Amino acid sequence: MKSEYYKNVLPWNENERVIDQFGWNPQSVITPTKSSKNNWDDAYLTAYEEKRGVCPRLPNGLMMSEFHAGLCENIVHYWSMVGDTIVDPFAGRMTRAFVSAKLGRDYIGYDVSPETVKKVREEMGRHSFDGYYDIIESDGCEMSHTDDESANLVMTCPPYGDIERYESAEGQLSDIRSYTEFRNRIEICGQNIERVLKPGGFCVWVCGDWRKGGEYIPFHSDTINMFTMAGLNLHDIIVMKNDTIFAALQAGKCASKRYTAKVHEFILVFRKSGELVANSDKIKNKVESLEQFFS
Ligand SMILES: C[S@@+](CC[C@H](N)C(=O)[O-])C[C@H]1O[C@@H](n2cnc3c(N)ncnc32)[C@H](O)[C@@H]1O
Repeated sequence: MKSEYYKNVLPWNENERVIDQFGWNPQSVITPTKSSKNNWDDAYLTAYEEKRGVCPRLPNGLMMSEFHAGLCENIVHYWSMVGDTIVDPFAGRMTRAFVSAKLGRDYIGYDVSPETVKKVREEMGRHSFDGYYDIIESDGCEMSHTDDESANLVMTCPPYGDIERYESAEGQLSDIRSYTEFRNRIEICGQNIERVLKPGGFCVWVCGDWRKGGEYIPFHSDTINMFTMAGLNLHDIIVMKNDTIFAALQAGKCASKRYTAKVHEFILVFRKSGELVANSDKIKNKVESLEQFFS
């Protein structure tokens, strides 16, 4: 059968500009723009919370970290197809759920924070995404509600140790004080990502490094080591430059210790070995058109 031959084809159209097909020029350093964020006003839980005057702010008045919706759009377009299943072990505050569902993917997100899960379900429920997303209140390191080899893409942004605290709950990673213990949970998460991914599926893991008590925590390289040990292949590394005011606020403190202020995060892309089977309409169409072309 000819389609066997084309099993591993990732669809793209050589007659159309890459930016028109995927919405961005895939380069190894990216700076997500304000306008690409602003296109997605409804994707932010914060917008609803602000309207109700219940927006959680950090002691310095800044908002809790939010995933950039424009970045999410790029990831979803580039590493998944319409109709694919996206699993998110640390769903957080709705952005990835909203963008994925809006772009026609089936999204399954895990979070252990009852308050976050309640708000996200409530706000997602205001849109007509029924049947296209599920928010599960359970440990994303285990993903025990997700079958083996059922996800085309795992996309997430894990908590960064305990540097930003979320609601205390059983399994809450930001409750863990010791980096070794935190890392052990992430190692289990990596093993389960390998388990839930379909052969040929991608994992896009957005993370940063940080400092604790003066010690540099190389979370991105620890993740690479643990995930490759779990059987995933390192497929790509992208540096995301953050347009953040934190750097300016920290300049003096950093200079006094000869550190640099961190203005980047990593987008780590892993891939599970095996063949990508044409399961979405877009891939099927591509395979069929290739078969017609060669018949
Ligand atoms: C997604 S992460 C980082 C914040 C990120 N920028 C975002 O998208 O909101 C934070 C979320 O992970 C959740 N979390 C922490 N430990 C978890 C676990 N073991 N399983 C699932 N979710 C967890 C927290 O409750 C929080 O809502």
